[in-house]
Amino acid sequence: MKIRLLIMIMIVLTLGLTACGNNGNKKQNDAQTTAVNADPQKIYQNFCISCHGNQLQGGEGPNIQKVGERLTEAEIIKRIQKGGGGMPPFQVALKEEELKALATWLAGLK
Ligand code: HEC
Repeated sequence: MKIRLLIMIMIVLTLGLTACGNNGNKKQNDAQTTAVNADPQKIYQNFCISCHGNQLQGGEGPNIQKVGERLTEAEIIKRIQKGGGGMPPFQVALKEEELKALATWLAGLK
């Protein structure tokens, strides 16, 4: 009788642990999806490439390959939000985390 009880407890424990493990995996997947959504290079391709070029080399807009030497992250955020001088504003089109990811990436280009 005692052995049966022990086996029961072990089964319950194993099931419990498996369930917890699955939950952990799910959370990790969700986090990865968010990261992909805010991939700055993808956002750039969607919104900026037409004027700043596929290599950031410029075209209708200026070359921004080394924009981090000229502008801080905060200045880049402001520029993307407000536009100006021929560049449209993206305040509405981009979510806050997309804007931030984009500006962080550009500010790091030196
Ligand atoms: C319709 C064309 C167009 C699009 C689309 C566009 N830009 Fe621009 N961008 C410009 C122009 C033109 C300027 C130069 C404005 C000026 O002389 O003040 C500029 C300037 C900039 C600057 C400042 C560069 C500097 O050296 O001062 C940054 C940074 C920038 N754009 C980033 C972006 C990003 C990021 C996107 C996408 C979210 C984007 N741009 C989309 C046309 C565009």
